[in-house]
Amino acid sequence: MAPSLTFRLDRSARDTLTEQIRKGIVAAIESGSLAPGARLPSWLDLAAQLGVARGTVKAAYERLADDQIVVTSRAGGTRVSDHAAKALSTKPPAEPDPPPALYQEFFSGPAIFQMGVPASDHFPVPLFARLRANAARAEVAEPAVYPDPRGTFELRQSIAAHLRIARGLECHPSQVFVTTGYAGALAFALRVLRMDGRTAWMEDPGFFQGRMALELAGMSLVPMRVDEDGLDVAQAIARAPDAALALVTPGQHAPLGGTLALARRVQLIEWATRAQAWVFEDDYLGELQLKRRAAPALASLDRAGRVIHIGSFSKTISPALRLGFLVVPAAVAPRFAEAAMAFAPAPGPAVQTAVAGFMREGHYLRHLRRMKRLYAARSDALMAALRARGHAVQAGGLAVLLRLPDGTDDAAICREAQAFGLAPVPLSAWYDPTGARDSGLLLGVATTDEARLDAACDRLSRVIERFRWADA
Ligand SMILES: Cc1ncc(COP(=O)(O)O)c(C=O)c1O
Repeated sequence: MAPSLTFRLDRSARDTLTEQIRKGIVAAIESGSLAPGARLPSWLDLAAQLGVARGTVKAAYERLADDQIVVTSRAGGTRVSDHAAKALSTKPPAEPDPPPALYQEFFSGPAIFQMGVPASDHFPVPLFARLRANAARAEVAEPAVYPDPRGTFELRQSIAAHLRIARGLECHPSQVFVTTGYAGALAFALRVLRMDGRTAWMEDPGFFQGRMALELAGMSLVPMRVDEDGLDVAQAIARAPDAALALVTPGQHAPLGGTLALARRVQLIEWATRAQAWVFEDDYLGELQLKRRAAPALASLDRAGRVIHIGSFSKTISPALRLGFLVVPAAVAPRFAEAAMAFAPAPGPAVQTAVAGFMREGHYLRHLRRMKRLYAARSDALMAALRARGHAVQAGGLAVLLRLPDGTDDAAICREAQAFGLAPVPLSAWYDPTGARDSGLLLGVATTDEARLDAACDRLSRVIERFRWADA
């Protein structure tokens, strides 16, 4: 006789009825009330008992059979398999390691002070949603073919046109490669140019994710000093003249905000030309320079074809797009094109078509102009609010840096602030972990709206004050 199974179904639950039946049987096996070899009720009986369709029970049994938890035969009906207990005791794979602590702030949010994301309260949502919906429909309606692995011509052309106006960079669409953000572009260029095992100059402080990417690509890093004029190129040349790569943020240094001075730009390109090295220009903020007109791209000065320009739509539209691009010197464009096809094709065309439409119809430039004004106002308001509370602050890119006395545990302050819904980032995390590190808090201006500003600054000041006392 088949044992009767006693479990209840909940028709309002998130799990389907089939899944609830499957889980009910698994629970009965785990608890021992269904032993190996025990016969399950027929679909018909169980369906009648539970008041569900026969197919619902059948689907649950089939799933259990697929997992080898039950076996079905014509003669014996459905029975618990001999090794069901073993199959069930196999633990599910362990949760992967949590992301590095610093990233929690990037993944969660947007909380107040959060860096690295644009202001979502001023985004033209209906307009962009319409462009995306139209593009998705067009993609589905078109014949299923492999798209150009370099990115759609339309987007590459729009990017090239935009760079000419906004970044002073003359390039042909065949030099532009659409990527999965800056991160995708960086990994792509590192592989194409075979940087594995070579030495790189890394800004110190510098973008921790860039540092991580170079290390994962097998490069040896030499941390290089940065001041208000950007990377100290003379020091870098003296320390590691034979490096194969310099990874720099010349437009606005990340995270301190200085623009690489013209004399240093010239010096950097001359060194790269001499050493046959590559300069990767991380232009993550593009023309989003809040205080004045943005300096032209470093790549616009490059006559010898040594600069790889990397741009991103993460700060100007949304990081959720995961969309960025590379502009490479014409001489290496064919190499990049082959590699794009082989191992780094551009994201699907729908997202590219939407962004190309946004650019072509003039919305992108308009949106950038509005964001520049908004961010400049938010940056000024944040600096004033912090100064009024006695903090030493400086503007840098889309963040404000609040300096802390040497040795202050800025990471601990950030952890504590998080409990109050604030998301500052510790400055110390941007330094080479083996060297000296300044202490401070980086506060994103895009997410710091006027309405919550005073309360957030009060709260942050109280957290800092507690650490002052603790340190004293
Ligand atoms: C210095 C720097 N470079 C690049 C990026 C953009 O990266 P992605 O395009 O992968 O979002 C960021 C984002 O925070 C950044 O801070």
